[in-house]
Order: sequence, then C-alpha cells, then structure tokens
Amino acid sequence: MAHSENFDLAHVGAIELFTPKFEESLHFFRDLLAMREVARIGDSAYLRCWDEYQQYSLKLTASDTNGVGRTLFRTTSEEALQRRVAAIEKTGLGHGWREPEVGVGRSYEFEDPDGHLMALYFDTELYVADDEDRPALKNQASAYPGRGINVRRLDHINYLASDVTKAGEFWRDTMMVRESERVRLDEGGYAAWWFRFHQKSYDVVYSDDWTKERGRFHHFAFAPDSREDILKAADICLENGIYIEYGPYKHAINQTFFLYVWEPGGNRIEFATAQGRLILDPDWPVVEWTQAERAKGQAWGMKTVATFHTHGTPYVENQEEIDRQALAGNH
Ligand SMILES: [Fe+2]
Repeated sequence: MAHSENFDLAHVGAIELFTPKFEESLHFFRDLLAMREVARIGDSAYLRCWDEYQQYSLKLTASDTNGVGRTLFRTTSEEALQRRVAAIEKTGLGHGWREPEVGVGRSYEFEDPDGHLMALYFDTELYVADDEDRPALKNQASAYPGRGINVRRLDHINYLASDVTKAGEFWRDTMMVRESERVRLDEGGYAAWWFRFHQKSYDVVYSDDWTKERGRFHHFAFAPDSREDILKAADICLENGIYIEYGPYKHAINQTFFLYVWEPGGNRIEFATAQGRLILDPDWPVVEWTQAERAKGQAWGMKTVATFHTHGTPYVENQEEIDRQALAGNH
C-alpha cells in the first residue's frame, strides 16, 4: 500500500548542466528549444520553458568539462522537506543547508550513493511574465513561443551509475518514491531502475554505466506536446547540425515516444512524451524486465543504440573512441 511519505517529492525542479561550449549550448537551449534566459550570474545562464511556474529549470554553466551539476527536487510541503532531510541525514549522505538561488528557496544538499549532487527545497518564487512573454490565458506562466522545438517543461532526469542497485535502493528506501519499472540482471541486481513521484510514469532513472565511473550523467528530458513535435524536433536538430543519437521511436519501458540528441557540449538531451501514459493506481506493482526481454529492443523492435551504454558526461578518457567502438559493435 502506498504510504503518505511516498508523496513527499513533487517534481524535478532544476538541473545544472556543465558545458565546455557555453555559447553553442546556450544557442541550443535558448534559440532551438525556445527557452527563455531569465538570469545570468557569473558563468551561469538560468533558463526556463514556457509552461513552467518557477523562475528557471536549467542552470547552464560554462566549464572545462561537461556533465551534470546539482539537481534540485521540489518537495510537496515544508513538512515533507523536513521528513526527507531527516531520512537523508541518517544515511550520512547529507551536506547541509544551502542559500536560495534565482527564486528557489533554501535547499538541503546531499549526494546519492553514486556521488551525484542533489538538493531538496520547498520554497519557491513563481514566475511573473513581463511584456515580452505575457500569456493570453491567466492559467499559463508565460506566452507560448510557437517556434523551434518549443519545449513545454522539464520532465525527468536519468543518471548513469556505477552501481544502479545501490542508487535505486536509496531512492526507494530513503527518498521513498515509488518504483515504476526496472531491468533485472541475470546475475542479480539491476541494470536500470525507474522511479515515479506521482502519476507520471517516471521522474528519476538510473542506468548502468559500462565504464564503471561514478556520478556520471545520462540525460535529462523535456516534454514537448505531441509525437509530431518530436518528429519536428528531429528535423530542427538535423537542420542545425545537432547530433541525433537515437530515435524518434517508442520506448518499450514506460512507453514514451522519444528522441535523443547530444547538445553542443556533448550532454545527451531527450525530448519525450511523458504525458501519454499515466499510472493512476497508487499501488501499481513495479514492472520488472529480464535481460533477455530488454535485449529485444524498443517497443517496435529496434535495438537500443550501443552508445546508450557508453556515452555519458563528464567524458571518460577516450570517450569518443569508446563510443566509436560501441557503434562498430566492438564493446
Ligand atoms: Fe529519458
């Protein structure tokens, strides 16, 4: 039976992404995806999608390397925040309270067992549109841009992990969010694990890092409106020299329609229709896939691209060669 603590987390609030090609990455998110830059502090640009109620969802930071910085997760209440902080503190993974940042209130920073930096917060500032992006309807945060990939909102994040089982157990037992699906390895443990906060089929995912590095990033996803938008996203990426890694296609697991690209900084970004399938049953049992079932490929049979298991950020030494070998079938 679902427990009230299973509903302590609301959604992925914001993600910091590192890029060694700041201007090119900014062009990708701001101009091709139609996000709006709301603040610039130091080496970071803060960007938002048009249907997001908060100030920002992406902090894009110029860096020597690529990869993900801190992920912010909003809780459903102040009490929920305090409950989860108490649970995290028991694990020894807590770092302590951090100051507010661009509308996101005081947050509690911690790391997951694989070393990914995260924080929980509840207080947040609502976005107030100005003359440039005032919406026609009062129930929408900002105007519909109607250009480019036109991403509606940030949807989910997928981390690579050296030990998916350990990271997954942390999310199940300490964060107490519910599992939706997982891939079980023949020798025990898990190759991938999906978690849901509410009715959307997933918000946080862990996948096996074949390089066995800790703390790497696989992708995060934006939700456009429709499957057609994802086909259009592929055309826009093609036209603008953005590397298309995989798709458009339909996932077997959780059944989202997807497209994966590498933004100019080398980080994998997904466009996915998360709203197509909701899990309405609060006690829906976790769906477990075997390695053999997973090996059958995606929903309509296409095999998963080999770089899906090797390409992650920050890059490991010889990342490009590892990806090339994977594509050549030499893993
Ligand atoms: Fe995804």
